[in-house]
Amino acid sequence: MKPHIDPHPWKLTESVWNPEHQILSESLFALGNGRMGQRANNEEGFSGKTLQGSYIAGVYYPDKTKVGWWKNGYPEYFAKVLNAVNFTGFHIEIDGESLDLAKAKSVQAFHRELDMQHGLLRRTFSATLQNGHVVHVVAERFLSIVMDEVAAMQLTLSTNLPAQIVVRPFVDFNVVNADTNWDETFWAPQGQGSQDLTGFVYAKTKKLDFHVAAAMHTQCMDQQQTPIAGEAHNKEAYAETRFAFTSVAEQSYTVHKYVGVVSSLNADPAEVVQRAQRQAESAKEKGYSDLRQAQCDAWVAKWALADIQIDGDVSAQQGIRFNIFHLLQTFTGVDARLNIGPKGFTGEKYGGSTYWDTEAYCLPFYMASTAPRVAKNLLIYRYKQLGKAIENAEKLGFTDGAALYPMVTMNGEECHNEWEITFEEIHRNGAIAYGIYNYIRHTQDRGYLAEGGLEVLLAIARFWAQRVNWSDAHEKFVILGVTGPNEYENNVNNNYYTNFMAAWCLEYAAESAQWLAQEQPNAFAKIAAKILLEEDELETWEAIRENLYYPYSDEHQVYLQQDGFLDKELIPVKELDPAQRPINQKWSWDRILRSCYIKQADTLQGMFFFEDRTPLDVLKRHFDFYEPLTVHESSLSPCVHAVLASRLGYTQKAYDLYLRTARLDLDDYNNEVHQGLHVTAMGGTWMSVVYGFGGMKIVGEDLHFEPCLPQQWSLLSFHMRWRGALLQVRISPSALTIEHKDGPEITFYIEGKPHALTCCQTFKR
Ligand code: BGC
Repeated sequence: MKPHIDPHPWKLTESVWNPEHQILSESLFALGNGRMGQRANNEEGFSGKTLQGSYIAGVYYPDKTKVGWWKNGYPEYFAKVLNAVNFTGFHIEIDGESLDLAKAKSVQAFHRELDMQHGLLRRTFSATLQNGHVVHVVAERFLSIVMDEVAAMQLTLSTNLPAQIVVRPFVDFNVVNADTNWDETFWAPQGQGSQDLTGFVYAKTKKLDFHVAAAMHTQCMDQQQTPIAGEAHNKEAYAETRFAFTSVAEQSYTVHKYVGVVSSLNADPAEVVQRAQRQAESAKEKGYSDLRQAQCDAWVAKWALADIQIDGDVSAQQGIRFNIFHLLQTFTGVDARLNIGPKGFTGEKYGGSTYWDTEAYCLPFYMASTAPRVAKNLLIYRYKQLGKAIENAEKLGFTDGAALYPMVTMNGEECHNEWEITFEEIHRNGAIAYGIYNYIRHTQDRGYLAEGGLEVLLAIARFWAQRVNWSDAHEKFVILGVTGPNEYENNVNNNYYTNFMAAWCLEYAAESAQWLAQEQPNAFAKIAAKILLEEDELETWEAIRENLYYPYSDEHQVYLQQDGFLDKELIPVKELDPAQRPINQKWSWDRILRSCYIKQADTLQGMFFFEDRTPLDVLKRHFDFYEPLTVHESSLSPCVHAVLASRLGYTQKAYDLYLRTARLDLDDYNNEVHQGLHVTAMGGTWMSVVYGFGGMKIVGEDLHFEPCLPQQWSLLSFHMRWRGALLQVRISPSALTIEHKDGPEITFYIEGKPHALTCCQTFKR
């Protein structure tokens, strides 16, 4: 079952009603505003296959770990993003029959639309009910990015014949997670109330005491704008307003619902209800059309910095805007306690927690396309969790301030509980350090080293220094028993990527320490005293770095993904029977582990991060060796390969991989969109356009552009924030222009030649 999304540069639209598609569309059309998000569930409910989902950023539940065989070092719990209060619902009855598209006789003129340019979700349809009435509905809603604790909804309906109509907008805290380890409910209701046209519900989590309240203000009017009286009702964890009236045929009736959703992350627990009520009240005072206009304006302003325009290829255009839209609505960077879960606000899989995905795939988008504090808050998030990362390492036997950042986390504690990932996928530590390096070279905010960056780097370096061991056989340091980014091999020795990142972390931590010692000796002395940095530590790191072992094949002239890689039967993916794919759904795990198939970039991931250290001929040999063995069964895979293919001039391959990453969810390549979207991979999609076709790369400290457009594209245009300046890059098959729109003078390189630009000059080639 594939979704049917119509092509459009700014919108997702679906113009055929198919109840089987509902659960897919709920993911694709999801809304968010950084503070909260929700799947595109039907306002009136749906008794077919659905996943009701509303999520509040940072509110989670420590669900007790469930494993078959406990291993020392496993975390006590897996943090789960919580399915929270349903605040979008309206029960609708027409002459006693509930409106439910799963049960209607027929549905006509169905149109669902996500207006990404303005952050609005709209649905129109006519349904013929079992009782013969035809009801026409227009439902629109948005989560405000201007008032981020506010949602607003407008529902208009009319009937072909006079009918007894009952519309009941509600807020409901009787929600359960689809994903629970022990079939428990996670919310304890704390109260509800309703009066006149208002209502509220209030609950707290059974553990950790997150308090959340949702309050609503409702209004119902006939076509002449005459208010219709409503009655307030409530029962446990539920409140509604009941509007009952007899409709005049073909006359429209409009219901507004203004909701405030407040959590104890941002308010005193004793005040969440009042604050939610104040938010709903103030939204009502502004009115639907003013709130809506403010929403449209704010989204247009976001797009002014973040948009990528592609002319000549509507499918590619829709794909990139869809990816950017979800990145922008998942993380707004206003709060350093929040991060980006692999599914954002679109589903429960991956627990809504933070992975290495953030630093490895998402950070570049936020650095280039949003206000500077947004990316910085992602770094501060990790700095705040350094203490927990040191505790995580201690649990595994590391000492002296060594830090192992978690593979999966909400608050800094490791949540993952499969040994081959929890204990072995330690390469994640490298990505955290790489995030700091990437941020500093992009922004030149070296001051961040003193603010927290250096402490993180030193603690990570200490981890690697303890994780290596000397091998007499190799006469080198080795790293044993790891899982690289390719999770289709576990417990391998000397994974090239892990060893490479370990060595680089040791080098960068030492370099950063030396830089700070020289430039800001007081700040450095304070950090050194705080973490008891020994004088000889940096020398030890250098000795390890110089003597780290990397498996290499003379025959193939490539670094090997791990010591035993050449023992495998190397059969290219193209020789696999398509019916056997995806192998993670068709093969036993044992068979996958013994095979040569690579889930996602591994050796190539390191070359992607450090392309300025990788000559093109070396990159080509590695790409030609590994890509044919890669099944791209992680959403994080096609994007990296798309960038590398662009670098190598494999333009068709780059384009195919681009569509696979940009339209992964829109075309549901992996048959899993019902579970939610691949939000962190969307950062990778952005890189595949800007780094790949836009040819942006950072060589040492310098910004370069070497564009190469796919044949179909007549224009690629994007913005780039670089060291306080704002650039607009426009690439057509025959020209390149770079306009300096704001900020200080900067220099960039085209075909190796430097060009300096100040505001508001334009470079043309
Ligand atoms: C990938 C990991 C990734 C995780 C969350 C897994 O399938 O292999 O690299 O961190 O998904 O996106």
